[in-house]
Amino acid sequence: PFPIFAQLRGTTPVRYDENRKCWDVFRYEDAHQVLKDPATFSSKRGGEENESLLMMDPPRHTQMRALVSKAFTPKVIADLAPRIQSITDELLDAVQSDGKMDMVHDLAVPLPVIVIAELLGVPTKDRKLFKDWSDILVKGPAKNTEELFVQVMAERTQARQELDAYFAEIMKLRRQEPQDDLISLLLSADIEGEKLDDKEIIIFSILLLAAGNETTTNLITNAVRRLTEDQSLQQTLHEQPALVPGFIEEVLRYYPPVQAIGRITTKDVQIGDVPIQAGEQVISWVASANRDEAKFPDPDTFIVDRKPNAHLAFGFGIHFCLGAPLARLEGQIAIQAIARRLQHIRFVEGTPLTPIPSPFVYGVKEFPVTFEISN
Ligand code: HEM
Repeated sequence: PFPIFAQLRGTTPVRYDENRKCWDVFRYEDAHQVLKDPATFSSKRGGEENESLLMMDPPRHTQMRALVSKAFTPKVIADLAPRIQSITDELLDAVQSDGKMDMVHDLAVPLPVIVIAELLGVPTKDRKLFKDWSDILVKGPAKNTEELFVQVMAERTQARQELDAYFAEIMKLRRQEPQDDLISLLLSADIEGEKLDDKEIIIFSILLLAAGNETTTNLITNAVRRLTEDQSLQQTLHEQPALVPGFIEEVLRYYPPVQAIGRITTKDVQIGDVPIQAGEQVISWVASANRDEAKFPDPDTFIVDRKPNAHLAFGFGIHFCLGAPLARLEGQIAIQAIARRLQHIRFVEGTPLTPIPSPFVYGVKEFPVTFEISN
């Protein structure tokens, strides 16, 4: 998609799409203008019965974000590092002697699911259930037919009901006996007496599944994809693991897992020199903004230690990804482990690259590789 974005930035940086009935914004500066102004560009997309943080505007968003941030702190995340490390090593141990693996199924999918499940306090035995629910929640219809759409919506409603019941049970247990987990922290979080109720905790927990799993999976896969596209990067990161955090940032810029972010205008506004009326849908194309030559010199070149690197992969402003520290940590630990333990990682040629069937997600469904063990 990237050459097409480059063309659109040049010709129609802000354009109306008649088919999708929405405005598309392709330049960095314009996407930034949209994301930093929630009063004009609202996140309330309506239609959802249960409103999550992601779909709230101030003042409700401000309150709710402050409350969940009390539980979802940088310290809570940083403390997960040793666990993320050992889960990563276990997953790699399981495939190491084969000399081949599917990066998606063997590492990039299970790692974030296990981490979120543990963070929330979901028992190991329920992980498979958990993964199935979270898959259903993010899955769009495979084809754009009415019948499939109805089927997907029905599956989603059922998954929601099952998750609701499941979390209700966990909360009951944690209320009786708090544990060292996020659900217990969310139950006790309060700001001047203001607390989250059960329904809010469930909606937030489900948001973590929906917002955190597939995105992190794609970050890890896209990072490995980059390592196979430029073999010299493998040696560089093997010798200099301190470059990995910068490498992950550049992967986020270059192959952003979330391609676009939606808003609705609350009043008449102008983006660039294009007037837009109130009540219109506006899509900010992160994948295009991240390659904008006006912001990033030599945007189509992957620069492992690019600085500054103010990409929009996690959004910007009040809705800036709450899970960014966790996603970064998982990405860094996974890639450090891969660069330390494996070498000559190659994509299995001839395998078709199947993109995730959504215009808003950038990733592939499978990524088989061969490798050798590093000595
Ligand atoms: C919000 C991307 C991982 C939880 C966002 C937004 C983006 C994003 C672009 C802003 C959406 C908007 O402005 O409308 C990503 C990417 C990830 C990732 C690319 C992985 C590489 C995670 C993880 C979690 C998480 C691991 C939690 C476990 C959230 C939450 C919000 C959010 C709760 C809503 C914040 C708010 O509305 O205030 N994410 N995310 N994300 N993300 Fe992430």
